[in-house]
Amino acid sequence: MTTSPAAEAARRRTFAIISHPDAGKTTLTENLLLAGGAIRAAGQVRARGENRRTRSDWMKIERERGISVSASVMTFDHDGLMFNLLDTPGHEDFSEDTYRTLTAADAAVMVLDAAKGIEPQTLKLFEVCRLRDIPIVTFINKMDREAQDPFELLDEIASKLALDPSPLYWPAGSGGRFKGMLDLRADKFLPFAKRTGGGAAEDDGHPQAIAFKGNAIVSYLDPDEQEELRDNAELAQGGLKPFDPQSFLEGHMTPVFFGSALRHFGVDQLLEGLGAYAPPPKAVAAVKGGEAIHVAPGDREVSGFIFKIQANMDPNHRDRIAFLRLTSGEFERGMKLKVQNTGRQLSVNAPIMFFASDRELAEEAFAGDVIGIPNHGVLRVGDSLSESGTLRFAGLPNFAPEILQRVRVKDPLKAKHLKKALEGLAEEGVTQLFRPMIGADFIVGAVGPLQFEVMADRLANEYQLEVLFEPSPYAEARWIVGDKADLEDFQGKHRPQMATDIDDQPVFLAKSSWETGYVAERYPKVAFERSKERA
Ligand code: G4P
Repeated sequence: MTTSPAAEAARRRTFAIISHPDAGKTTLTENLLLAGGAIRAAGQVRARGENRRTRSDWMKIERERGISVSASVMTFDHDGLMFNLLDTPGHEDFSEDTYRTLTAADAAVMVLDAAKGIEPQTLKLFEVCRLRDIPIVTFINKMDREAQDPFELLDEIASKLALDPSPLYWPAGSGGRFKGMLDLRADKFLPFAKRTGGGAAEDDGHPQAIAFKGNAIVSYLDPDEQEELRDNAELAQGGLKPFDPQSFLEGHMTPVFFGSALRHFGVDQLLEGLGAYAPPPKAVAAVKGGEAIHVAPGDREVSGFIFKIQANMDPNHRDRIAFLRLTSGEFERGMKLKVQNTGRQLSVNAPIMFFASDRELAEEAFAGDVIGIPNHGVLRVGDSLSESGTLRFAGLPNFAPEILQRVRVKDPLKAKHLKKALEGLAEEGVTQLFRPMIGADFIVGAVGPLQFEVMADRLANEYQLEVLFEPSPYAEARWIVGDKADLEDFQGKHRPQMATDIDDQPVFLAKSSWETGYVAERYPKVAFERSKERA
């Protein structure tokens, strides 16, 4: 079989699932893997999770809180396409991590709980997708439970997200009266089978789709239900815009699927929809030799960027895996790639691909794929890798933390260790580290309080450091940007509140947002930025 990087990239679908906690992301992930033939029985995603958790102490938090702290990727080959499903952390504290994961996705599936519609976290994640122009497929889950009226749900999508919903299916009832759904494009009815025994989800076999017109339908819908479904489908088709793939790719429209992830209903249709409509990797903006260019998936040179680092997946080996999203070329195992900003070269001898049930060495990979590169701190989030080492991809920012605390180690003899450990965590992007220009304090910043718990847990388990967090006098951190002379003038006058970040960039630590506003007004030539992209 002859392949080219362009043809291989064209059969990649790299996507993430976004949802409010409890809407069914884990259940849907599992059932998508099932639909894609990547696993044989439902329950494996969780089982694998348990397995991983028992190996990794710091994930205790994950288990205790019942949330997913770490992001990973799962790859499966189905119907001639290669799907890469990126797992986005579900808790609101982890928006920065999630944001970065979404930089590696070409599309997103937005899961809504049919009884709840759009919830706060859905909205937040949606905004991130919109910022990055990621097309969104909607899956309205839990139709086997009492749901809101589908028209109201679609109205909510239109009004809260300013997105045109275009249903590809229409449900017949919900909860105890859920009978199935009509395929609006093919005029076929997909019956939903009631579970008879108490068996596991994978036992759910639903009857074959049948033509909506004709008598056969009687066996699933009574005449009233049939009429209601026909009326609603007509109303939906008359009142809502028909699905336009281009409008979807441009982020104006979302195709809407209905189903029950738990009962494996509507999941095959969702996967089919992703295959048909979700975009393959596209050209990515980059800078080469000071010039703005686009890197196309079919370009010869192998390139990509690191969007996540995960340390100590196996604490016995102190390993660090950098997740590289490939953007072009044909990657082969053993290849040498260069890091753009440091110029360091590494031989990628043991790249990992993550399949649902296993990790495997990646012999080759193409644009859209994500490979894990084990390394000892050489790679950082935001690094651009390529054969020539001259390509730089933009768009992996750090965000100003919302909570700033001072961290101290209980045993003062271990201060040096603390510095190293904090730097390691900051390089991973777990938390941010600021060193005030005066004094010996370490100020750490995070987007939410849970990150401090994760941090304390990891410092104790991985670095044997007992730490204390104390309130700091600071409320905000702002990267300062401007001409050298203006910056020096500002820094000279505000030394007690100046710090440097992990990349030695100057940061102003403000005691309140009022103070940030005040200095910004007095120093109009200095910009006080909430986010920073690594140079
Ligand atoms: P999350 O990752 O988005 O947080 O959600 P998750 O899949 O863990 O699902 C949250 C709860 O909703 C789970 O119930 C799950 O079984 C249930 N659920 C998911 N999809 C459906 C669906 O289509 N229909 C129905 N009826 N329920 C669904 P739980 O009781 O919290 O957990 P578990 O004890 O079942 O594991």
